[in-house]
Amino acid sequence: MLKKAVWYKGSLGVLMAACVMTVAMAGVGRTNSGQFVGSESCGECHEEEYGNFKKFAKKAHSGKSVKVMAADLTNEEVAECYVCHMTGYGRPGGFVSFAETPGMADCGCEVCHGPGYDHVEADGDPDLIKGSLSMDDCTSCHNPERIDAFDFKPLLYGGAH
Ligand code: HEC
Ligand code: HEC
Ligand code: HEC
Ligand code: HEC
Repeated sequence: MLKKAVWYKGSLGVLMAACVMTVAMAGVGRTNSGQFVGSESCGECHEEEYGNFKKFAKKAHSGKSVKVMAADLTNEEVAECYVCHMTGYGRPGGFVSFAETPGMADCGCEVCHGPGYDHVEADGDPDLIKGSLSMDDCTSCHNPERIDAFDFKPLLYGGAH
């Protein structure tokens, strides 16, 4: 009886290991298509844009703007800030917390150009990243409540690089 139980446990273990492997392999096949990857990956190939952005854009410090005010806010209120002040909050590959995803703790390249995983994986295929932008790419964050007259034309190049 005891022997049987041990055998049973053992084969259950093998069975479970097989299941875990199947799930893991399915995950490999599924890819991370559509995910956010963070500005640092973009910097490897777009050195100039990356350098200018880090130096001049307020977006590159937008996480700090939240951090300095966080002590006076509830967790729910802070989470609301993340939607506009971080990269990809609540979306695959995006910001989770300052500790877990430091590379996403500001508004990076991908808030304007969209998630970059596919573009990066394809060695920079320009068809796999949003190149030309419109007002709609800004107004989710720069909405009328936040700014009286969002003048797109001069601003379009202003907040980037
Ligand atoms: C492996 C190198 C590489 C990486 C990493 C990379 N790019 Fe690119 N990217 C390119 C190349 C090559 C082109 C096409 C030639 C060009 O326009 O400079 C390009 C083009 C672009 C364009 C213009 C697309 C168009 O329609 O003309 C944008 C915008 C862009 N990349 C943004 C990004 C962003 C954002 C990231 C990070 C998520 C990134 N790139 C990461 C190599 C790369
Ligand atoms: C995910 C939200 C988000 C999107 C999308 C977004 N922005 Fe911003 N932008 C911000 C935040 C947040 C700041 C303020 C950063 C700070 O000071 O904390 C900012 C700052 C700016 C500034 C201030 C000047 C500076 O030096 O950076 C300009 C200009 C700007 N954005 C232009 C744009 C334009 C143009 C677009 C669309 C192509 C755009 N933004 C899209 C969130 C966003
Ligand atoms: C709907 C998007 C959105 C939300 C939500 C949001 N912000 Fe912002 N925030 C912006 C934009 C866009 C700017 C810069 C442009 C502007 O002032 O219009 C900005 C600017 C700021 C600035 C000024 C930075 C500077 O250099 O002047 C601070 C500080 C700030 N936000 C903190 C917060 C905090 C804290 C929260 C959460 C309670 C929050 N924001 C929520 C979009 C947002
Ligand atoms: C505030 C929005 C915004 C952010 C953030 C932003 N870009 Fe752009 N980017 C633009 C705009 C606008 C253009 C010009 C698109 C057009 O010509 O219609 C552009 C164009 C580009 C191009 C095409 C070549 C060029 O310079 O015109 C590349 C490459 C690029 N961006 C890379 C990046 C990288 C890398 C980052 C992060 C370091 C970044 N961008 C962050 C708005 C942004």
